[in-house]
Amino acid sequence: MKLLLLALCCVASASAFLSGPGAAKIQGDLGKVKGKEVDIVYTVFKQNPDIYAKFTKFSGKTPDDIKSTPEFATLAKQIIGTVGDYGAALGDDAKVKAVLDKMASTHKPRGVTAALYKSFQKTVTSYLGVSGPEWDQFFSDLIAYVA
Ligand code: HEM
Repeated sequence: MKLLLLALCCVASASAFLSGPGAAKIQGDLGKVKGKEVDIVYTVFKQNPDIYAKFTKFSGKTPDDIKSTPEFATLAKQIIGTVGDYGAALGDDAKVKAVLDKMASTHKPRGVTAALYKSFQKTVTSYLGVSGPEWDQFFSDLIAYVA
């Protein structure tokens, strides 16, 4: 019986992605993004010209030019929505993989590097005022999967 319990515990903790209290911390913190999607992505673009340069559909325009457009609002909601979907899926690795597989399929061909994701992480976490090992793992797992 003891052996069986031990085996069950191992299976329960063999999650590849954050789960349990770590997942709960991320999910709680992600509550802060609601309504701020446009401002967050605008801040990412302003602070990281190398990221912005990859968004070729905005070539010739500055982040300030596009900030108030419906097109930008849609994109910002998609980007931050995907971060939220990933966070919400934590605890269910199959769901996490479904979110990240989709992202990998669109972003690998775009040549988005780990360094660019790191810059995204830095701006977003500092914007939200969040930090800690959970946030480091949240992003390093994402980067390992999609970059
Ligand atoms: C966790 C970080 C990120 C998430 C969750 C994310 C998610 C998304 C989503 C959902 C879209 C819209 C659907 C699509 O076209 O694929 C998108 C578009 C895009 N993303 Fe990301 N992204 C992230 C980071 C980045 C970074 C760091 C770069 C590049 C430096 C990047 C480059 C792009 C480009 C070029 C587009 C296409 C925009 C367009 O022409 O409509 N993404 N992203």
